Parts: sequence; structure tokens; C-alpha cells
Amino acid sequence: MSTSASVGISDLSFATTHYALDHAVLAERLGVDRDKFYIGIGQERMSVAAADEDIVTIAAAAAKPIIDRHGVDGIRTVLFATETGVDQSKAAALYLHSLIGLPNAARVVELKQACYGGTAGLQFAAGLIARDPSHKVLVIAADIAKYEIDTPGEPTQGAAAVAMLVTADPSIIALDPQSGLYSADIMDFWRPNYRTEAIVDGKTSVNAYQKAAEEAWNDYRRQGGRDLGDFAAFCYHQPFTKMAYKAHKHLLESQGRTAEPEAIEAAIGKTTTYNRTVGNSYTASLYLGLLALLDQAEDLTDKVLAFVSYGSGAVAEFFSGTVVSGYTEHLRTEANRAAIDSRELLDYDHYRQLHEAQAPVDGKYHATVSETSRPYRLAAISGHKRIYESV
Ligand code: HMG
Repeated sequence: MSTSASVGISDLSFATTHYALDHAVLAERLGVDRDKFYIGIGQERMSVAAADEDIVTIAAAAAKPIIDRHGVDGIRTVLFATETGVDQSKAAALYLHSLIGLPNAARVVELKQACYGGTAGLQFAAGLIARDPSHKVLVIAADIAKYEIDTPGEPTQGAAAVAMLVTADPSIIALDPQSGLYSADIMDFWRPNYRTEAIVDGKTSVNAYQKAAEEAWNDYRRQGGRDLGDFAAFCYHQPFTKMAYKAHKHLLESQGRTAEPEAIEAAIGKTTTYNRTVGNSYTASLYLGLLALLDQAEDLTDKVLAFVSYGSGAVAEFFSGTVVSGYTEHLRTEANRAAIDSRELLDYDHYRQLHEAQAPVDGKYHATVSETSRPYRLAAISGHKRIYESV
């Protein structure tokens, strides 16, 4: 067994919900200029879950194409990162066994640390593969971001799932071993068990994100990481796309560099296009930024990318990787664009109805309204069990 093989991402697949809400609809409702959202926070639309969608249905839709392409041989670990869990005990990925055919000879675990969870999954996967390069790990990051109606957080909702196949000798991104870490006890965003909507101190969270990104960068350098000038692009966690611009400017200035708008646009512009219309997908957001970059950039072969992961509460990680020769053959650009373009736009009343719907708690049989056109749906909740089906 060798421990020197490169480790990284060999496949990346994305799914989002059936519905989306345009921020112009929200702006009208809130009585604000739509440019506050389109320009001010850099969001045009956000994905909204249908009555019969949740993190399991979108995760299954993201992961199935990976299983179809690679089979399950070698997948001995499935890590599902989410902060929108559907159960306090059972890992959401266990539902995927019956939906997409995961192997039984596997460990299947749910991970949580706000939006950072997907990166935790990726790094834990890299560690397992370093121990045994024949091991493959399916990492899934899926979330539905929800804030209270008529609050500043409302325009920063969204939903998506990104599934990644992490392997030795990867086909898309080879990860560097260096990684910069930062964690601290901060109350910037949290969701107590009894709430369906997050609580956030918006301004504190924006500042905490920037400080954490800077500290993670400083640690990355202490660990022998690359120079700022080595990166062809920076993929940031994007709760709203303007946040990536703010954080990159902050990072450059913290290192005594001038942050010219054109240089910032060149470094992160392409990473923001999917997030701009999907909204905050928490754990998936950073990886949606990577997908958008890979789908649009001219040849990135051998280019080095930076990744800046932030999860409120808070944990941040700065890490890096090199784009592998031949990566374009492994992309799913058409499917990614179709997932975004095929969403049905909601009117405000329907959005509000979906937002206010509560899960039944009485243990009786409750069929779910049939809405989604996506491959999997939550068919019912019965006896406190969630029943899923293929569409
Ligand atoms: P707000 O107070 O409504 O907005 O909330 P604002 O008044 O600060 O305006 C936002 C921007 O729009 C400002 O620009 C305005 O100038 C501009 P900035 O000063 O920031 O550059 N603006 C306009 N621009 C053009 N035309 C106009 C116009 N009007 C105003 N007409 C806030 C903003 C982000 C605080 C709010 O949406 C919020 O609380 N969101 C949720 C928290 C959040 O996303 N925090 C991000 C960092 S924390 C994080 O990333 C973790 C997270 O993903 C959770 C996790 O880890 O699980 C959230």
C-alpha cells in the first residue's frame, strides 16, 4: 500500500430544486430597489424546495449520476455534510441506499459544522484515501437555506446539493497536502434544534467570515502553503456572491496588496455565476463555485486553485489544488446548466406557502403534494418515517 498517491476530486455533480424565486419578486414585497439584491448582495434568484423536496431528494439527484458513471466499486465511505438534517440520529445518506443503490459494505455518516461541513467531508475523505489509495469516498454536501420571512437574511436563502467522488490519482482536482485552519466560538449564525429557520447577526457574520478567511490564510502559509500570486482563481464559500468579493478584497489588503476591482473579478468572477442564481446552499456553496469555474473557464489544466471554506460558529479552512490534465472530459456542464435553467419560477404567494409549511408531527400518514419534476421525491411521512420514491 502506497501513501504517496495524489488525492482529490474525480467527479463532481450538482442538483438543485424544482422551484426558484426571482429577487425582483422579493424586492417588490419588501418595498426595496431590486438592485439592492441584484447589485448590492449580488443575487438574482434563489432555489426554493418544492413541498416534496428536501436534502435527501436533491442529494440523491446529485449523487446518482456519479454512481451511474463509476459504479459503487471501491466506495467504502459516504460522508453527507448538511446543516438541514431531517433526523437527529439517522444519517441522511442512509436513505440514499434504497434510492440510488449505495453499497452495504460502507460506513455512512452525516457531518455538521454549518457551511464548513462539505470541506470537512472532503478533507476526511482525503485522509482515508491516503491510508488506502484503493478506497473511494462519496462526499455529498446538500442544504436548503432558510431564514424568517421579511428579515435581512431572507434574500440570502437558496438550495443545492453537490456530490463529489474523492479518489487517489484524481481526474479533476489534485489537492495539495497543506491546509490552513481557523476555529473560534462565535455567535454569528446558528439554528437551535427547535427552529426551522436560522438566526443570524448579519453584520457580525460578514466580519467574522473575513477575519476567519484571513486567519486560515495565515495558517496555510505557516503550513508551507503557496504564495498568493500562484493561484489562477479563488473559490470562496458564497452565502451571497458579493461576500466572495468582500472577502477577497479583505484578504488581498490584509497582505498589503492593492485590491483592483478588475483583478478581483478575474480571480473570482466565474466562480459566482451559479451561486448568483441558486443562492446560499450552505455546505454546497463553495463547490458550486468550483463547478461554475470549471464549466466556464478556458483551459485550466495545471492551474492552481485556492479554496476558502467558511462555516459560521465558526470554522474556516484555506486549501488549494491543481486542475488535472483531461479534466474537461469529466465535467457535467450541460447537466449543471439544465438543472439551473429548468427551474420553475414561483410567484410570491406560492413561495410564502412553501416557506410556511410545517412538517407533520402526529405520526399519522401524510401524503406529500406532488410538485417536483426532479428524479426523487418525498412521497409521504407516516409513522414518523420519511418515505421517498423515484419520480
Ligand atoms: P442588509 O442589512 O439588508 O443589507 O443585509 P445592507 O443594507 O447591508 O445592504 C447590502 C448591500 O447592498 C450594501 O452594500 C448596500 O450598500 C447595497 P455593501 O456596503 O455591503 O457593499 N445596496 C445597494 N446596492 C445597489 N443598489 C441599491 C442598494 N441598496 C443597498 N439600491 C446581509 C445584508 C448580508 C447582512 C443580510 O442579507 C444577512 O443577514 N444575510 C445572512 C447572513 C449572511 O449571509 N452572512 C454572510 C457571512 S456568514 C456565512 O457565510 C455563513 C453562512 O453561510 C451560514 C453557515 O455557515 O452555515 C451564512
